[in-house]
Amino acid sequence: MKAFESAKLGGIALKNRLAMAPMTTYSGNEDLTPSKEELDYYERRSKDVGMVITAAISVNRHAQAFPRQITLKDDTFVEPVSELVRTIKRHGAKAIAQLHHGGRMNDPSLYENKDDIVSASAVKAPRKGAPTPRAMDVSEIEATIEDFKAATLRAIRAGFDGVELHGANTYLLQQFFSPHSNIRSDAYGGTLKNRLRFIGAIIDGVSETIENHSERPFILGYRFSPEEIEEDGITMQHTKELMKFMKETPVHYVHASLQHYNQSSIRDERNKTPLVVELREALDGKKPLMASGNIRTREDLRHAEKVGYDFFAVGLALLVDSNWADKVEKGVTPNTTFEKDTLPAPLYERMKKNRKRFEEKGYSF
Ligand SMILES: Cc1cc2nc3c(=O)[nH]c(=O)nc-3n(C[C@H](O)[C@H](O)[C@H](O)COP(=O)(O)O)c2cc1C
Repeated sequence: MKAFESAKLGGIALKNRLAMAPMTTYSGNEDLTPSKEELDYYERRSKDVGMVITAAISVNRHAQAFPRQITLKDDTFVEPVSELVRTIKRHGAKAIAQLHHGGRMNDPSLYENKDDIVSASAVKAPRKGAPTPRAMDVSEIEATIEDFKAATLRAIRAGFDGVELHGANTYLLQQFFSPHSNIRSDAYGGTLKNRLRFIGAIIDGVSETIENHSERPFILGYRFSPEEIEEDGITMQHTKELMKFMKETPVHYVHASLQHYNQSSIRDERNKTPLVVELREALDGKKPLMASGNIRTREDLRHAEKVGYDFFAVGLALLVDSNWADKVEKGVTPNTTFEKDTLPAPLYERMKKNRKRFEEKGYSF
């Protein structure tokens, strides 16, 4: 099966085409460095995949969205984060840092001064308790681009094999791309071209940082969510333009963040064409496409291969069963009961608190 075959990405050899999907653990130390529990969690799940995309890592002091989220916001974090990198790479997986800014989705309890929660525009997320963010001015936008570059340099120094820019799941990069959350009237808002400007500048800046500072091949990926449910949110039409844009950038792969890897539109329910068909068409074979969303069995993997994905990110299934990849490769059925003993306590407790959501998917505690 293609998923278990070795591959090359951005000049780096991978033992297979599986990735551990990025998953926040809420389990860093209080000083936002990786905790021992977290390292154990990663070590167990890194053994059999080609690459591990870390939990979202905040890039500056405005970027933290979750409690105990790890960070690369300044140089002091390079050394502690390098331990996470060594752990992931111990059994041959490549380590990819997911670089993140939460924007208006930041947990307001983490910020004493509500002015520190920023976004493209002062538009509140349509959810209970969401803060109204402060619109970033141009100098802050430019400083944030620099922060993504600086975090990339720290990721290089910490020994990572690549970075993935978190442009999905309604966080800051997506907030700039979305006509719902970006109502700016300057060069960073309005037209699609303008709404892509921030993302493009980050990609260019990060790519330049890699070129200037990495002596070895270094992967650059981009994660995106193809649609938003808000009336004036992101449509597949916008996302096809995003894919065409990505084709011309130095990113080595694009990563679709979906509920189900083979889902169709959440905006146009009459259209049953799986989104992957349109994504592939727009990418025209120019960039590899990574799947994510409900890949749980060998059959799912085989199907995801068939519908045209190149790489396969696995989240919950690997979180629940740390030996998922090995079992699936050997045709053994993975466990569906959360392994309490191999999960950091805050992560396990958080999952348990939302147990209904996971039980509906067939997992148990
Ligand atoms: C506990 C948890 C934490 C997550 N944290 C992140 C994250 O930090 N960054 C991200 O891009 N996606 C995050 N996700 C989304 C997953 O990467 C993935 O897209 C989603 O779980 C669907 O894939 P799955 O069905 O294989 O789990 C998280 C998901 C879970 C369950």
